[in-house]
Amino acid sequence: MVNFDYQTPTRLIFGKGVVEEKLCSVMEQYGKRVLITYGGGSIKRIGLYEQVIRLLEGKEIYELPGIEPNPKFNPSVLEGVRICKENNIDVILSVGGGSVLDCTKAIAGAACSDADPWDVVTMKVPTLKAIPIVDIITLAATGSEYDSGGVISRTETNDKLAYFSKLVFPAVSFIDPVYTFSLPVKQTLAGIADCINHIMEQYFCGEHIMMNDAFMEGAIKSLMKNVRIILKDPQNYEARAEIFYATTLGCNGIYSLGNSDSGWPMHAIEHALSGYYDITHGEGLAIVTPRWMKHILNDNTIERFVSFGTGVFGIDPSLPEREIAEKAIAAIYDFYKEIGIPMTLGEVGIDDSRIDEMAHHIAVNEGLENAWAPLYEDDIAAILRDCL
Ligand code: NZQ
Ligand code: ZN
Repeated sequence: MVNFDYQTPTRLIFGKGVVEEKLCSVMEQYGKRVLITYGGGSIKRIGLYEQVIRLLEGKEIYELPGIEPNPKFNPSVLEGVRICKENNIDVILSVGGGSVLDCTKAIAGAACSDADPWDVVTMKVPTLKAIPIVDIITLAATGSEYDSGGVISRTETNDKLAYFSKLVFPAVSFIDPVYTFSLPVKQTLAGIADCINHIMEQYFCGEHIMMNDAFMEGAIKSLMKNVRIILKDPQNYEARAEIFYATTLGCNGIYSLGNSDSGWPMHAIEHALSGYYDITHGEGLAIVTPRWMKHILNDNTIERFVSFGTGVFGIDPSLPEREIAEKAIAAIYDFYKEIGIPMTLGEVGIDDSRIDEMAHHIAVNEGLENAWAPLYEDDIAAILRDCL
């Protein structure tokens, strides 16, 4: 078991009606000047925007709307930094999905620095201070509500980079599963795939302990069971709630304390796909997952496949190891196909024209030669070609 040093300062307030019950008192702990960040309008359609404005009566409110999926440095981060600096914002309230919250984290850090905001986001200069963040998360997917990272895209360079600082952990996250009733099926499914992949990135690693295996296998089984329930009954609160609990823990590290780091290879590959083509993150991950598994399966890695296949899919442990591994790869592919996720790059509008360019970009920027299952440029290109 590897050493760990773990602290999460975020207060989670989870359940039906928690925003109405506690948003006012939580926001009282911060100053008067509030920046509300949000996306393209979903929070208005579900009545959440109106609810928040009512609950913040008496505050001086500023707004940054229009944050896009795969949030963009320009204009969203830059515009948010400008608003915060010009108006001496005390607290940022992020209302929406992971993209809104990720963008908010970048704003919160960059607004407290005199450095170029891009240097803060790329961590060339350290984040020494950040504006406190409160969020109401409306999409069960990224786990951004319980982690200290954000992923920001810069369109002109095709970069999609992770920004981390302990100072941008949300102070308080409100998680009401009812807000996810309105999610389009596509986003619900992408969120499930994102979370399953977060867990797999932590499961497929070198050093690991039995307790974490059981925790992660249980979470994936819960996600698989509950997504089938909500596909038939989108307003099933218990299923939505269990999914949101699993996704909230996804990127926080808590699933794998004591495990060694895998290098998160599938995320490294997917971030290039969504950086170059602006596709939905969870869909990109679902497409990459079985191809990455197939590519890295060998005598050194097979133990993880056997454990995963028997633990998650109930594959007969008495079968030969190779057969279990191959059945596990087929099972994850079939599950995504069954629930309706596109499973080829062609289906999300990506052809072979930029495969080599993306493989090079990933190889240069992501350090996957040091991953648990090392990947070089040729490996990455082969995985991407297999996804076509
Ligand atoms: O923009 P609006 O109108 O709000 O609509 C959004 C958006 O179109 C919509 N939506 C959100 N909540 C809704 C809703 N529609 C109806 N009802 C609701 N309750 O869903 C669409 C997608 O939203 P987005 O925030 O982009 O999705 P998600 O939460 O999956 O975030 C994806 C981003 O997070 C990054 C991804 O790379 C991607 O950029 N990630 C962040 C991580 C982190 N911070 O730890 C880790 C992840 O691995 C991931 O990389
Ligand atoms: Zn992810």
